[in-house]
Amino acid sequence: MASPKLALLLVLLHAAFGSAYRWFNWQFEVTCESDAYIAPENEAATAKFLQEQYHKGSHIKVVGNGHGFGNLTTCVDNSLTEKPTYIVSLTNLKHLKVNKADMTVTFGAGWDVDDLTEELKDNGLSFNHLGVERVQNFVGATSTGTHGSGSNIGNIASQVVGLRVLDSQGNLSVIDKKHNAEELKAFRISLGALGLITEMTIQVQPTLLMKKTTKVLNATSDYSKMYKDLAQLYKEHERMTVWGPHFNWDADTQSWALEPTYFLSWWEPTNYTDVRNCTLNYCANGCGDCKKEYICYDEMIDAVSCPPEGVCAREFYAEIEHFLPIEYYAEAAANYTLFQQAQTPRMKAPYNHQMVFQHRTLRGDDAYMSPVNTYNLGPGLSGVFAIIEIDWIQEYNNFTTLWQNQELAFEFLTQFGETYNVRPHWNKMSPPNATYTLEKFPKLPEFLAIQERQDPKCQFVNEFLVQQLGITRCAGFLSN
Ligand SMILES: Cc1cc2nc3c(=O)[nH]c(=O)nc-3n(C[C@H](O)[C@H](O)[C@H](O)COP(=O)(O)OP(=O)(O)OC[C@H]3O[C@@H](n4cnc5c(N)ncnc54)[C@H](O)[C@@H]3O)c2cc1C
Ligand SMILES: *[C@@H]1O[C@H](CO)[C@@H](O)[C@H](O)[C@H]1NC(C)=O
Ligand SMILES: *[C@@H]1O[C@H](CO)[C@@H](O)[C@H](O)[C@H]1NC(C)=O
Ligand SMILES: *[C@@H]1O[C@H](CO)[C@@H](O)[C@H](O)[C@H]1NC(C)=O
Ligand SMILES: *[C@@H]1O[C@H](CO)[C@@H](O)[C@H](O)[C@H]1NC(C)=O
Ligand SMILES: *[C@@H]1O[C@H](CO)[C@@H](O)[C@H](O)[C@H]1NC(C)=O
Ligand SMILES: *[C@@H]1O[C@H](CO)[C@@H](O)[C@H](O)[C@H]1NC(C)=O
Ligand SMILES: *[C@@H]1O[C@H](CO)[C@@H](O)[C@H](O)[C@H]1NC(C)=O
Ligand SMILES: *[C@@H]1O[C@H](CO)[C@@H](O)[C@H](O)[C@H]1NC(C)=O
Repeated sequence: MASPKLALLLVLLHAAFGSAYRWFNWQFEVTCESDAYIAPENEAATAKFLQEQYHKGSHIKVVGNGHGFGNLTTCVDNSLTEKPTYIVSLTNLKHLKVNKADMTVTFGAGWDVDDLTEELKDNGLSFNHLGVERVQNFVGATSTGTHGSGSNIGNIASQVVGLRVLDSQGNLSVIDKKHNAEELKAFRISLGALGLITEMTIQVQPTLLMKKTTKVLNATSDYSKMYKDLAQLYKEHERMTVWGPHFNWDADTQSWALEPTYFLSWWEPTNYTDVRNCTLNYCANGCGDCKKEYICYDEMIDAVSCPPEGVCAREFYAEIEHFLPIEYYAEAAANYTLFQQAQTPRMKAPYNHQMVFQHRTLRGDDAYMSPVNTYNLGPGLSGVFAIIEIDWIQEYNNFTTLWQNQELAFEFLTQFGETYNVRPHWNKMSPPNATYTLEKFPKLPEFLAIQERQDPKCQFVNEFLVQQLGITRCAGFLSN
């Protein structure tokens, strides 16, 4: 706690910078009070700011758009520290250069995914894949391993071929595939812990047309059978997302009622150039006429992901997203579903509404902190991962319910982590356990060595990073 004298000093400091700034994530449950919101004009101004703050050892949290479900993206609250604490956004860094000769795009950290996709489309370019929504800042999405679905498709970070990053002294490093390929494996998914990334260069490709096929399936409470069937479908379709099973909260029985049907979509490249009609039905977050069999054709971006206007509802939700070797998928999914049902009697808080399971796949990679890193895979595993997501959606934004569901969500990793070699999404309810992190991310020591070089005074860390990654040298980061 700050002393009264210090509190006065902090008030004066706030006055000097305008005013204190309270940070919130997208659903307002992750929050912190910082001394100011800093949005530098360009890379040079960012470097200057860092250089000035280095002497004071100020806490600095660089943020994207705050579309996370846990405490990864939050500042050190100014009630906990005597040092200045800032939220930094690089939203003003908006330069962009398309290089069609080598099919890359280089752009400033200010670009959001949605704006970047539009820019690419205008240039006859495309991504190979994207997440379901485009609400993130591009660097923010990359830095946590955001992904779409496809057994032979990498996450967004896997297309990064170079970047520029400022360390805590404001010194610039240029990291790229050609000059320091090994370091790039640390920086592709950096969790905001390795410095402020000011620019990225990504590999793109020519306009990619996809055919999307959506099918409605019958649900059954024989989960073992249901997921075996899905595992089989994943062998037949390279890019496929399953939305289901769905459950609705039954207030009378205080339990989840299985909806009789659910749906899935798969995508395949097509030569059909006539009509582009996937935007007629985004079906994001259950919005739209989803449980319907149809096909549509579109550019990859619009065929797999939806822009902000495609999102119709935003109630609180708790969510887990776990990556595990695909060989374990059918058994794991059945056990996850049964484990969830065993938790139901403890879901006493009001306003539960819907629970949706979602399933995807992803090709493994070599980024040090990638949830689908292949460094600890035993023999006999293909390096393809299944992704099991569970969303607990409320009908009303009540914090008690959200926190209760989050507590229960945390239990899945303890239950299944070891058995299925599970890695949680960094920005979706990742429980703090550094022993576990080290086991699943064998390159963690290398990552932490770079972290120390980039941030010797522990200015970029917060409670989440210290706990999750076991950054023991930063244990006293609040007071050092
Ligand atoms: C509704 C919804 C749908 C989602 N759908 C998907 C999905 O389909 N697939 C999926 O994988 N994920 C999905 N996510 C998760 C989301 O993609 C990630 O949480 C992503 O990291 C959010 O990006 P952001 O810019 O909003 O993040 P933030 O939380 O603001 O930032 C994420 C991280 O990036 C760091 N960072 C940001 N900018 C910089 C910078 N310039 N330099 C260095 N570090 C930086 C931050 O410090 C932080 O550690 C979804 C989330 C929501 C809320
Ligand atoms: C985030 O941090 C706050 C404050 O320490 C804590 O109360 C909350 O439970 C944390 N949330 C999650 C999802 O870990
Ligand atoms: C980093 O920046 C500081 C201050 O700007 C400078 O004194 C130092 O020499 C730089 N270090 C390196 C390795 O360039
Ligand atoms: C689902 O069940 C209905 C009958 O209840 C049947 O007509 C339909 O063919 C089934 N669909 C699938 C995909 O098995
Ligand atoms: C598209 O057409 C080309 C040239 O005819 C062919 O080689 C390719 O296999 C076709 N692709 C698909 C997905 O049909
Ligand atoms: C999209 O267009 C194709 C080709 O005309 C058509 O077969 C399909 O039904 C359309 N899909 C939707 C969702 O309208
Ligand atoms: C998962 O399911 C299998 C087969 O039903 C069972 O033998 C096993 O004990 C379960 N494992 C866990 C961790 O629940
Ligand atoms: C949220 O639910 C809890 C538990 O029932 C209740 O005590 C609280 O008043 C609710 N809060 C709001 C704002 O409705
Ligand atoms: C960390 O997680 C592992 C695996 O779930 C568990 O065995 C261990 O007890 C946990 N440690 C702590 C400190 O929670």
